[in-house]
Amino acid sequence: MDNTETTSGRPPQTDFNTVFNNDLDYPRLGNVTFRRGTLTENQEALFTENWPVLGKDLSDEIIDIDSWFGRSGHKTIVEIGSGTGTSTAAMAPLEADTNVIAVELYKPGLAKLMGQVVRNDLDNIRMVRGDGVEVLVRMFEPESLDGLRVFFPDPWPKARHNKRRIIQSGTLNLFASRLKKGGVLHVATDHADYAEWINELIHVEPTLEYKGWPWESCPQLTNRQVITKFEGKGLDKDHVITEYLWEKK
Ligand SMILES: C[S@@+](CC[C@H](N)C(=O)[O-])C[C@H]1O[C@@H](n2cnc3c(N)ncnc32)[C@H](O)[C@@H]1O
Repeated sequence: MDNTETTSGRPPQTDFNTVFNNDLDYPRLGNVTFRRGTLTENQEALFTENWPVLGKDLSDEIIDIDSWFGRSGHKTIVEIGSGTGTSTAAMAPLEADTNVIAVELYKPGLAKLMGQVVRNDLDNIRMVRGDGVEVLVRMFEPESLDGLRVFFPDPWPKARHNKRRIIQSGTLNLFASRLKKGGVLHVATDHADYAEWINELIHVEPTLEYKGWPWESCPQLTNRQVITKFEGKGLDKDHVITEYLWEKK
């Protein structure tokens, strides 16, 4: 893709304002792109064996969803920042008719999810490793998704890091562009300050209709099934969970 800032050794970072010809705000990823971590020998072996079939790395390949899942006519939901995949793996069996694509920067998280997928024979989950914003721009066609999920995004609590938050006017615009008409965006946070930040942005994207929470007739599964590791930590601290649902107009 043109208009890409490339610094040696770094994954490509799109200059979104130029590409989309707007002045919206997009997250500055900084060094989080390079999150590493070690895998156990077993995890590494399982990952190496299954990644060519179940996983993809960020690239400029537009994903052929039907051929990747080996079926056609099914809804597709992308989850950005799936972490260790706890809720991804818990929700998937309840939405077996839906293709679920988990996007994560953190390889050990993907390896954990891979373990669950293989052990529990979950055949409706695939994974992409990379920055979810770049993955959406480069690997998914506009209006190709039925749902997008962002559960407990990194809160970046220090004021000088707020710009790194994934929920911003530009990403909401990008999320909307990848959703089909009637598609659903579901965001959850347990961070009060992040909730205030999102509250300010609820109506910023004109093609997303805010549906509030809960939305009884929502066309996709909204119950996350489990208290995730991060959510658990929040609950321990008496944090309130705030959930948001929007529908693509
Ligand atoms: C606080 S954790 C929450 C994980 C999981 N959703 C949960 O509820 O347990 C946020 C996750 O988002 C990932 N992440 C942060 N920025 C991302 C990005 N731009 N693209 C993909 N993943 C990202 C982080 O690596 C981390 O695993």
